[in-house]
Amino acid sequence: FQPKLLAGRKVVITAGPTFEALDPIRGITNHSSGKMGFAIARAAREAGADVALIAGPVGVPTPRGVRRIDVKSGRDMLAATQAETPQADIFIAAAAVADWRPVSESAQKIKKDGSGGAPTVSFTENPDILATVAKTERARSRALFCVGFAAESHDLAKHARAKRERKGIPLLVGNIGPLTFGQDDNQMLLVDEQGATELPRAPKLACARQLVAEIARRLPAVRP
Ligand code: C5P
Repeated sequence: FQPKLLAGRKVVITAGPTFEALDPIRGITNHSSGKMGFAIARAAREAGADVALIAGPVGVPTPRGVRRIDVKSGRDMLAATQAETPQADIFIAAAAVADWRPVSESAQKIKKDGSGGAPTVSFTENPDILATVAKTERARSRALFCVGFAAESHDLAKHARAKRERKGIPLLVGNIGPLTFGQDDNQMLLVDEQGATELPRAPKLACARQLVAEIARRLPAVRP
């Protein structure tokens, strides 16, 4: 009898884009289908984990047996994540969180005034969910295993190594180009303290299963 890789573990995953409202009609968002995060949720569930999937606005079906929490903004996503991670063993940040949000959201639709002019929007930085959670967990010295993603247009390995250090996490997954938004396959570069390893290009679900196996073998054998 082979126990499942993540039996008895709780996994929290963020997925999809965030939507930062400007008024009741408009807002800014990122390109992200949510497919990779949803595939990871499915693979973690298959591996026996209790999975909470915190999803921005996406059009992909919820994997069977996965508890899904829908959010819109980066701040909502942070709050939902902070509510779930204290009981978790693994946090995987696969969401494409908007780096900035409008400073204020107009309660009413911003109207054209007929002058041909355009409004000016001021932005403020959104919280970094992954860095915030990793820092909180370090302070509590709990063994929450945090995993981040990096999509870069150039110098992936260099940026991925730097990002892993900056976020203070054990494992960073680089998406090896071309940028994979909405695509069904992906290729991952795993960056940990040992260095960088390229995994083979594969459909996103196969990539997700590879990643779950890689995470499982890095976990402490027993829960702390
Ligand atoms: O800093 P950058 O956005 O490139 O880092 C990407 C990683 O950080 C991803 O794992 C993403 O989910 C996470 N992230 C986050 N909150 C943000 C920005 C990024 O959790 N505000």
